[in-house]
Amino acid sequence: MAGKLRIAAFASHGGSNLQALIDGCASGQIAGEMVLVICNNRKAYALERARKHQIETLVISDTEFDSETALAQELLSQLAARSVGLICLAGYMKKMPNDVIRAYRNRILNIHPALLPKFGGKGMYGIHVHEAVLAAGEKETGVTIHLVDEVYDSGKIVAQRRVPVNPGDTPESLQQRVLEIEHQLYPETVARIASGELRLE
Ligand code: GRF
Repeated sequence: MAGKLRIAAFASHGGSNLQALIDGCASGQIAGEMVLVICNNRKAYALERARKHQIETLVISDTEFDSETALAQELLSQLAARSVGLICLAGYMKKMPNDVIRAYRNRILNIHPALLPKFGGKGMYGIHVHEAVLAAGEKETGVTIHLVDEVYDSGKIVAQRRVPVNPGDTPESLQQRVLEIEHQLYPETVARIASGELRLE
């Protein structure tokens, strides 16, 4: 692939996956550049992480717009202004507007802390995912990276990695073990996309 992949990340909270992607770009693991971080929440620590690396940030909240179309227009114009080629959702708690999904078809990734299609969909976020995995008596869980389409957690799976559920695990201990694998799999997968080894269409 010619030139560096220009990446934008969307986050809502802590942004530890964003950090893994920033570090992957900085170390050269990813032949890409994180050019923009968008948060819907101005208190997101993800904004701080981006600023520390001199990455441009924007706070864009759906509450400021009259319609999803207007929000999508703003997002698309900011993304186009920076020639963004790949969008990485990293703990983004809002639904991406359909117009953005259409414009960036096969170029929006999300990371989910379970082995989709299990434990996905509405309500399956954060600690709730790990609570559900334990309640179901699963012996293993994992991490999924998938394309984003119009339905939550249903897009094509791009990469998965398994994580064992240990006897005595709590939702928190499981979340921590899964998160460590997220921090490996997300930059590894984006690196494979940036190098052209993995094609998303
Ligand atoms: C991660 O568990 C990710 O899989 C999910 O949201 C969480 C975000 O964590 N989509 P962080 O903000 O990257 O630390």
